[in-house]
Amino acid sequence: MIKPHGSDKLNPLYVADSAKREKLIQEAKGLPSILISSAAAGNAVMLGGGYFNPLTGYMNVADAMSVAKDMRTTSGLFWPTPVLNMVEDASAIKGAKRIALKDPNIAGNPVIAIQDVQAIETFTDEQMKTITKAVYGTEDMEHVGVKTFNTVGKAVISGPIQVLNYSYFDKEFADTFRTAVQLREEMGKLGWEKVVAFQTRNPMHLAHEELCRMAYTELKADGILIHMLLGKLKKGDIPADVRDACIRKMVEVYFEPNTVLVTGYGFDMLYAGPREAVLHAIFRQNSGCTHLIVGRDHAGVGDYYGPFDAQTIFDKITKKDLLIEIYRADHTAYSKKLNKVVMMNRVQNHTKEDFVLLSGTKVREMLGQGIKPPKEFSRPEVAEILIKYYESTTA
Ligand code: ADX
Repeated sequence: MIKPHGSDKLNPLYVADSAKREKLIQEAKGLPSILISSAAAGNAVMLGGGYFNPLTGYMNVADAMSVAKDMRTTSGLFWPTPVLNMVEDASAIKGAKRIALKDPNIAGNPVIAIQDVQAIETFTDEQMKTITKAVYGTEDMEHVGVKTFNTVGKAVISGPIQVLNYSYFDKEFADTFRTAVQLREEMGKLGWEKVVAFQTRNPMHLAHEELCRMAYTELKADGILIHMLLGKLKKGDIPADVRDACIRKMVEVYFEPNTVLVTGYGFDMLYAGPREAVLHAIFRQNSGCTHLIVGRDHAGVGDYYGPFDAQTIFDKITKKDLLIEIYRADHTAYSKKLNKVVMMNRVQNHTKEDFVLLSGTKVREMLGQGIKPPKEFSRPEVAEILIKYYESTTA
């Protein structure tokens, strides 16, 4: 199986030994504690599950700046986005060497991890700007990721962590949430060596489905890992449980048995386009995948990124830094001329009118009115689940 990023063996930060974990849970009760952001909690879940291997905890200011500017930590590790624990006010833990991190996403704010505090620093406004511009490509506060990053506070608590649980993800999405460790185990049992990962935050429409099938067939892969984001999204995106149901239905009806794993990971969407695509690649490598599909406007939002910026960012990344390979997909849509889903750059003698192209807004409008999008766009079984969801939100 493909090697993890940055080390020979995966080093998940979740404390798997139950006796050790219980001891830490008891210790946490007596430690100074701090309520962390949802983004920091997501980082803990990813670090816990081995997805962010080989990081050992939250970055300090120097590493965050270095990653933002050069996609490399100060020690030279290839990494595309800062992994931070930022808070508004760190005075509650001033002077503490070891602290308990409280989860903002669960009622009562239970402790999600224990952190050894290496430093508490504060980003300057200039540093915040530099990171924002480098990671999100814009400083526009209308960009949902930029806004989130710039509103959690500027105090940076760095240092290694021990993770005590996976927040709400393993309970709320028991069938779907997996750690990188579990994925490696599962794929190992299935005997999968060449695995293509599909990142998604959407219910899968026909173009998504065909993209997976094309990649699987062309790469002669052993399996497809559909790996959906289970964390927070922007307003208007479909909630994870509904997406999960759509994807499971689609796989059940339209894919050969034992060719697809439907799984998810616990992280909030950054909407950082190209930089997030690189992060996606790293954590799919850590999960044991050999390929990641990157299509049109991967991890994008609005018009902040060029449609293929998330592909070209990989042009300069060498095998020395990243082993997983990128399956680049052009805009994929149904061709009315050929009666099938195609990559638009692979067909000749087509005009725009020859494709079934529906905007997200148009599809949402249709579903909201109980109208099924055409079968060239969405599988009827998937559309049905979505219509029910839209009915329930307007009821
Ligand atoms: S993402 O934010 O998680 O990337 P989404 O779930 O919409 O969003 O997309 C999942 C993957 O499919 C991404 O790699 C994206 O680029 C790709 N993709 C989605 N729709 C298309 C399309 N019509 N043509 C080509 N690629 C697409």
